[in-house]
Amino acid sequence: MLPGQNCIITLSAKIADSVSIGHNVTIENDVIVGPDTTIGHNVLIKSGARIGHHCFIGPYCYITGPCSIGNHVSLRAFDVISRGLEIEDHVFIGSNVTTTSIIHINYGRGNTRQFKTRIGFGCVIGSRSTLIAGLNIPPNTIIGQGSNVVKPIDHPAIYAGNPARKIKDLPPDQILEGESLPLMAWDDSQYPTPEEW
Ligand SMILES: CC(C)(COP(=O)(O)OP(=O)(O)OC[C@H]1O[C@@H](n2cnc3c(N)ncnc32)[C@H](O)[C@@H]1OP(=O)(O)O)[C@@H](O)C(=O)NCCC(=O)NCCS
Repeated sequence: MLPGQNCIITLSAKIADSVSIGHNVTIENDVIVGPDTTIGHNVLIKSGARIGHHCFIGPYCYITGPCSIGNHVSLRAFDVISRGLEIEDHVFIGSNVTTTSIIHINYGRGNTRQFKTRIGFGCVIGSRSTLIAGLNIPPNTIIGQGSNVVKPIDHPAIYAGNPARKIKDLPPDQILEGESLPLMAWDDSQYPTPEEW
């Protein structure tokens, strides 16, 4: 484990040796983090979260409690991962995505029912989207940026908008299969130089 400065990491957290941890990170009790995962600066991981191997947890992410994050999962900056969320392997979640665990907010009035949410293998959730509690998003589903998903999604396709609706079928080249996909690495050669924009 390679923690940065000002980190608070509880003794009961189980963190693999090869995990890299930025500055100002807090990791609470009973959190598990698998090998080769990177945790960015200013991340808060509350008790009971499970994070797999080869994940990227971007800066300022807030993981709010017990949840399960698979392997090769990429959470970009400022994501809020609610308690009860299950994220399967090879999921990409763009920045500023908020998930929730409660639908009817009875703040201070009792009877607050919590729901579990699942994001299936290979899903992509576009930046600044929100997911209402209790969804079971099928594998390979793509959610466009800025979407507000409030209704169940029954089959994989591209959904977008507020409320999110199906906008397209999935192009075949967008479907991930198998458990042994290559790691998503940042390859600068794929991107245009400033002169080419
Ligand atoms: C959803 C998405 C993948 C669709 O891309 P695409 O297949 O090229 O879709 P198109 O641009 O052909 O759009 C198809 C239609 O959906 C609409 N649409 C596309 N994305 C939308 C979005 N996010 N919200 C609302 N409508 C959207 C388009 O306006 C278009 O509508 P029209 O047919 O009435 O003109 C893409 O728009 C998107 O949101 N990507 C996510 C990007 C992101 O969050 N990246 C984060 C990591 S960098």
